Amino acid sequence: MTSDLSKLNVLMCGTGEYTTGWTGSGASKSDKKIGVVGLTLFDLRRLGKVDHLGMVGVNGKKFPAIRQHLAENIGGVYKDMDLTFDEFPKGGSVDPEAYKAAIDELKPGDAVIIFTPDSTHYDIAIYAIERGIHVLVTKPATQLLSHHNELIAAAKKHSVVCFVEHHKRFDPVYSDAKARAASLGEFNFFNAWMSQPKSQLETFRAWAGKDSDISYYLSSHHIDICCWILQDIAYPTRVVASAATGIATSDPYNCVPQTEDTITLLVDWQSIKSPKHRGTGVYTASWTAPLKAGVHSAQHWYYMAEKGDINVDQAHRGYDITVDDTGKTWYNPFYMKYSPSESGHFDGQRGYGYISIEKFIDAARSVNAGRAQPSDYDKHGLPTIANTVLTTAILNAGRISLDEKRAVGIKKDGDQWLLE
Ligand SMILES: NC(=O)c1ccc[n+]([C@@H]2O[C@H](COP(=O)([O-])OP(=O)(O)OC[C@H]3O[C@@H](n4cnc5c(N)ncnc54)[C@H](O)[C@@H]3O)[C@@H](O)[C@H]2O)c1
Repeated sequence: MTSDLSKLNVLMCGTGEYTTGWTGSGASKSDKKIGVVGLTLFDLRRLGKVDHLGMVGVNGKKFPAIRQHLAENIGGVYKDMDLTFDEFPKGGSVDPEAYKAAIDELKPGDAVIIFTPDSTHYDIAIYAIERGIHVLVTKPATQLLSHHNELIAAAKKHSVVCFVEHHKRFDPVYSDAKARAASLGEFNFFNAWMSQPKSQLETFRAWAGKDSDISYYLSSHHIDICCWILQDIAYPTRVVASAATGIATSDPYNCVPQTEDTITLLVDWQSIKSPKHRGTGVYTASWTAPLKAGVHSAQHWYYMAEKGDINVDQAHRGYDITVDDTGKTWYNPFYMKYSPSESGHFDGQRGYGYISIEKFIDAARSVNAGRAQPSDYDKHGLPTIANTVLTTAILNAGRISLDEKRAVGIKKDGDQWLLE
């Protein structure tokens, strides 16, 4: 069925934890020790969907260590993985704008996958889209709603696929919950918690509190899930934010003074169909959660509607392992399954971290073959740039609310969402 589709050339932007599992301080100690993007693309190349690969970062001197890390932990673990890729910047140079040279070497219809610091997503995505390149950008797609609106317009103008990598939409529990919420009537209340241990303040030292905040970093996940569940039920009208502080800015973390610990966004939702039904969303994210909690990301939420409720605890899935030295850990192979198959190949093709990238690759190939239009994916309810605009609206409004200590309105003007 898919045999006449051409293989896709893909440039990975960012060479860090999510792409390779290699961070500034060596191999990641999180739950992504060998990354997600590189591994998935190497496997999709083995399976015939992807062809030429590239990787662009800022510091070309990191590539020998990255290649060694990939050779040992991917090449040495899974059979038949071709780990070749072009690197940018070349020759060990340092260049924050190397993504331009790397994208210039692509041709229209190729693709980029962006996992770089939040403040760089827009610049890289717009550069690629304007050159006819399909884009998969990690969350938060952009920090400003105006930038998100520009990406929607540019993707439409250049007829490219632009998805936001909201992998939780492919988690079987979350997607089942979305389907069930559709029959629960009017929305009333949503409460989400997501946190990571305080040690992340060391991992994120380069940008924490300076270039982005914990709400953009973690609440983006559950705000997107809530917006997705409510897409035909209600729309957000107002955001008020509150922040807890004092841990990140104290010993031993000593982050910059404006770093918040825990951010809560309180959002008013108006029913689309019923003027009298209004709901409340509460989205909290923290990077000062306890160490040794047994999970890397605590994550749970509660949804209440007219005719019922939904409770999800995605951190604890009824699967835990206790080891003498390290204590109890709850693992999540439904996201990325790293243990090899019986034949020695990578075996995580059903993980939602993998599926999220594969859906984008499939969409870009179908559009290149003329089988689909980019706008078809908006109708399918996938996390396209157009379908995720309210997630950015809420996150951006939350940041303004914290900075300006006021409530921020969200409204629609024509077909565009704006902040007041
Ligand atoms: N790590 C995770 O678990 C995870 C999960 C989901 C989404 N994300 C998102 O991924 C992004 C960060 O990626 P990461 O977690 O791999 O972080 P990281 O800090 O480990 O890596 C960031 C990478 O971006 C590169 N980079 C910075 N500026 C660049 C530029 N101008 N051009 C090209 N590359 C540039 C850096 O060199 C580095 O390789 C964030 O937006 C984050 O929200 C991360």
